[in-house]
Amino acid sequence: MKSAHLINLPKIVDPRGNLTFIEGNHHVPFDIKRVYWIYDVPGGEIRGGHAFKEQQELIISLSGSFDVVVDNGTTIQKFSLNRSYYGLYVPVGMWRHMDNFSTNSLALVLASTVYNEEDYIRDYEEFRKK
Ligand code: TYD
Repeated sequence: MKSAHLINLPKIVDPRGNLTFIEGNHHVPFDIKRVYWIYDVPGGEIRGGHAFKEQQELIISLSGSFDVVVDNGTTIQKFSLNRSYYGLYVPVGMWRHMDNFSTNSLALVLASTVYNEEDYIRDYEEFRKK
């Protein structure tokens, strides 16, 4: 059964300020085709709320905090993201949404595909039938 999991990223600790980096196919198990970020989220709002047919992703909280709730059709897990040196790997075929965004939170998403609306499953019942 597929499951989402946290991936620790390199953290170069430096008195001048810490540094973290990501290389596609190395720290994440896919080639990074797209990067997008979610910001200025009003209190109480929910983002996501769909699955993908092909897209895998790594979700990182670059600033602030938020929760990612992932559902593989059998098990629902909640991950609270609040540090920029790890991310949540979400394999293909998971229903997921993001909520509980703190003020000024910044969610970075590294995706294995370019944007394609055809890749979205926005109907939960359709997702359950897959
Ligand atoms: P969507 O992924 O549906 O947001 P959420 O998962 O939070 O519900 O995207 C919202 C809108 O932005 C939708 O009209 C498609 C557009 N969009 C792009 O054009 N390119 C992208 O890379 C992404 C992620 C979204």
